[in-house]
Amino acid sequence: MYITNSIPNCFLYTIENINFLKMKVSWCFLVISAICAAIIEGQPSTQGFTSIDCGAPSGTTYKDSTGILYVSDDSYIDTGKNYKIDPKYGSASNQASTLRSFPNETRNCYTLWNVTKGEKYLVRATFLYGNYDGKQMSQHSTPLQFNLHIDVNLWRTVNITDASREYAHEVVTVAANDFIWVCLEDIKAGTPFISALELRPLRDNLYPLAFPNQSNAILFRLNYGPTKSVTIRYPDDPYDRIWPWYQYDTTMLKSISTTARFTRYSGDQFEAPYSVLQTALTPVSSSNLTTVSYDAPSNNPNFPGYYVVLHMTELQELSENQSRQFDIYLNDGIWASSLMLPYGMAYYRYDNVAEHYSNIKFTLVKMSNSSLPPILNGMEVYWAVTMEVNQLTSAGDVMGIMAIKDDYNIIRNWNGDPCSPTMFSWHGVGCNTDEPPQITSLDLSHNNLSGDIPEFLGEMPKLQVLNLSGNHLNGHVPDTLIKKNKFGLLLLLIDSCTACEDKSNKNNLVIIAIAVVAVATVAVAVGLLLFRILGRRRRKRGSGEQEMQIHNEVKKFNHEELNDMTNNFLRTIGRGGFGIVYHGYLENQIEVAVKVCSLESTQANKQFLAEVRSLSLVHHKNLVKLVGYCKDGANLAVVYEYLP
Ligand SMILES: *[C@@H]1O[C@H](CO)[C@@H](O)[C@H](O)[C@H]1NC(C)=O
Ligand SMILES: *[C@@H]1O[C@H](CO)[C@@H](O)[C@H](O)[C@H]1NC(C)=O
Ligand SMILES: *[C@@H]1O[C@H](CO)[C@@H](O)[C@H](O)[C@H]1NC(C)=O
Ligand SMILES: *[C@@H]1O[C@H](CO)[C@@H](O)[C@H](O)[C@H]1NC(C)=O
Ligand SMILES: *[C@@H]1O[C@H](CO)[C@@H](O)[C@H](O)[C@H]1NC(C)=O
Ligand SMILES: *[C@@H]1O[C@H](CO)[C@@H](O)[C@H](O)[C@H]1NC(C)=O
Ligand SMILES: *[C@@H]1O[C@H](CO)[C@@H](O)[C@H](O)[C@H]1NC(C)=O
Ligand SMILES: *[C@@H]1O[C@H](CO)[C@@H](O)[C@H](O)[C@H]1NC(C)=O
Ligand SMILES: *[C@@H]1O[C@H](CO)[C@@H](O)[C@H](O)[C@H]1NC(C)=O
Repeated sequence: MYITNSIPNCFLYTIENINFLKMKVSWCFLVISAICAAIIEGQPSTQGFTSIDCGAPSGTTYKDSTGILYVSDDSYIDTGKNYKIDPKYGSASNQASTLRSFPNETRNCYTLWNVTKGEKYLVRATFLYGNYDGKQMSQHSTPLQFNLHIDVNLWRTVNITDASREYAHEVVTVAANDFIWVCLEDIKAGTPFISALELRPLRDNLYPLAFPNQSNAILFRLNYGPTKSVTIRYPDDPYDRIWPWYQYDTTMLKSISTTARFTRYSGDQFEAPYSVLQTALTPVSSSNLTTVSYDAPSNNPNFPGYYVVLHMTELQELSENQSRQFDIYLNDGIWASSLMLPYGMAYYRYDNVAEHYSNIKFTLVKMSNSSLPPILNGMEVYWAVTMEVNQLTSAGDVMGIMAIKDDYNIIRNWNGDPCSPTMFSWHGVGCNTDEPPQITSLDLSHNNLSGDIPEFLGEMPKLQVLNLSGNHLNGHVPDTLIKKNKFGLLLLLIDSCTACEDKSNKNNLVIIAIAVVAVATVAVAVGLLLFRILGRRRRKRGSGEQEMQIHNEVKKFNHEELNDMTNNFLRTIGRGGFGIVYHGYLENQIEVAVKVCSLESTQANKQFLAEVRSLSLVHHKNLVKLVGYCKDGANLAVVYEYLP
């Protein structure tokens, strides 16, 4: 059973003013009793959950004891190999009895597809070694270690020292795309593997310190109060967070509990499950309650600090002459003072602990005029994981190349982000260093590809080199590719392509595009200049006429000037799909290459300008300068600096 969270107008984050609080709380109770009629019986929804049992045989689906549907991982990854753990290591959960192991590639990624950009999710990865490979990793050998990444960011190092323990790591993250990558990186300390991967949508207001640029990775989460081992998760926790119990020293602490139904402020940003809040620990005789202490993880150089949440809910209805009031210390400094908890209301304190203490603990200290000692129901500690959202390859390119991968069923190391981090970029994929990076070259040569060339190849805006040689692609070539190729925006290498003209050497590898040596660099060359132009154009918007959108520094020539420049088109230095390239001189004796467009018709005319403008989309380090262009009646040409 669980209560809807839509209790109107009971906002309350910090308790500073006790009188105000009492008034507010009693008012809330009125509202809540009315809302009790709306209590939902049965289990919370699992809509949007993705629950992957890694290494389970292809096609496996089952509901585990929590009622959540688990599926095998084969539609989320295409590398690695399935194993079963050694049965003598046992396993509390089904999911942990199989795993997928990754002996080959340095990085292997799962793609979680059922994700909406900008929404918040809990991602959990679980690892149980269980001697699956018979190598008997034991507590005494070197720990088995590998890195876990979320998208292109290091989430944490997995450190496995106990072969029979289930290690579960969680992160709260805001999706940067309509998918999330979870990657395992081999760091030469054993073969990476994974037992289960789970994704749970979170309400947007939960974990307010998780942003698109910053995820929250969990250090630990504990349920204070149970007297014996119990782990709370779904359905008690509608978000399926895992709340292990805190094993306490019974000479120091004692458990108190209630079965009373609790309520929540509607702005609750953590929504600890009621079953966690219904138990608490309190000191036996001392006036102090000290939490577990913890150290900073050593593997995070840019460590921005911890987020700590202390869940404290009053379980006892206090009589007139009773009071519970306490301060909270962070190590020796005061962190929160004079707390007085409202009965039956889920209450918490959270904050950023940015200081670089080597060791952190909290102490709840009874105030001298309080009759009862402090209580603690639960605790969560997170650290901030910086998310390099600008390093993620442009979403359009990713979608395109993913589709190509699926279409051609390409299984290489093609997983995770295509461009980032650079050391893991896909084989055959070249990227620029923009933010976000975009794909500039794609080598699909000798891949036994057949049939048509997919349309989306034409939709990668910065693709400049597409190598399809050594395949059996004899079908349709997308118009966009042919067009880009003709305009010198793309170097297309393909064994045969009737639509790409040049029927004479059909059987050889035909290099279409700018087939001419001197001008081969032109396509890329134009780019950077026009890129600059674009930059200036932004500063100097709305210059009216279409042609004027090409920057001033790029001269507009008429046909006569081209004539002079090239000495009546005397010296041909190249010939491409686009037209003939002539050698020439500017007035200041700078050598130029003049590329004359042989296309006719007004359509071609429009396209020409459009393409010259869109050249600004291309940029490259090895560029030559675009000097100008000519659009004089039917005469179209571009003039570049000539680099012999
Ligand atoms: C994806 O999530 C939506 C709701 O968020 C759900 O309706 C749908 O069934 C999910 N699809 C899969 C394949 O899990
Ligand atoms: C790893 O590579 C070897 C050799 O190329 C291959 O035989 C094996 O199937 C690969 N294993 C996996 C899990 O991909
Ligand atoms: C790995 O875990 C072991 C045992 O918990 C610990 O001693 C060791 O310091 C850990 N190593 C790292 C790099 O965290
Ligand atoms: C991260 O995002 C938050 C919220 O959007 C913003 O306040 C903060 O300045 C950003 N931090 C960095 C380092 O960009
Ligand atoms: C309780 O904690 C406070 C703050 O850390 C400390 O000053 C005090 O000595 C502690 N008292 C006891 C009895 O441990
Ligand atoms: C508190 O009041 C109750 C009656 O309401 C009384 O029985 C009890 O002894 C009082 N306790 C203290 C500590 O004063
Ligand atoms: C305890 O003392 C503080 C001031 O030190 C006061 O604000 C608070 O109301 C007192 N609490 C009780 C229960 O009397
Ligand atoms: C290439 O593809 C054809 C059919 O598409 C297949 O029969 C052949 O085995 C493939 N060759 C290689 C080397 O993969
Ligand atoms: C295209 O692929 C072929 C065969 O792999 C290779 O020889 C050639 O250098 C590639 N060309 C470009 C421009 O990448």
